[in-house]
Amino acid sequence: MEKKLKELLEKYSHTSRDSLIPILQDVHDELGYLSEESLSAIGKHLNVPTSKIYGLATFYNQFRFQPKGKNHIRVCHGSSCHLMGTVTLLEVIEKILKIKPGQTSRDGKFSLEVVSCVGACAQSPVISINGKPYGKLTTERLEQIIEEQSSIEPA
Ligand code: FES
Repeated sequence: MEKKLKELLEKYSHTSRDSLIPILQDVHDELGYLSEESLSAIGKHLNVPTSKIYGLATFYNQFRFQPKGKNHIRVCHGSSCHLMGTVTLLEVIEKILKIKPGQTSRDGKFSLEVVSCVGACAQSPVISINGKPYGKLTTERLEQIIEEQSSIEPA
């Protein structure tokens, strides 16, 4: 990871703080999240305190600060899904897994993200797990799906 990070940072000038967001995006794309180590390396590269970089990064919903879980859940929060009850689905997920959007469960099995319309409005409310969509979802079916995924042992 250290080598990849170094290679990414070398693409950007040490002096231009305008590069901060593109660097954060590149590192996030490459690693899947922004680790403490990567934030610190970016800070050193741009000569900006890590706390400032972290503060700015948390302003953007797109960045995660923990690696994704084995099952990455995306909850659609587009208008149609919102009207059809994804808020309730999100609450159920948060309660069962004890995580909030952007977090990963302690056992690493689940991570959660809220996304905008995924283009399947006719199936509202929609969530996806590792890219597999689950439409017209009820809370009962959601609880069942989480239970099924919880019992699958890591490969
Ligand atoms: S609003 Fe959820 S799929 Fe369009």
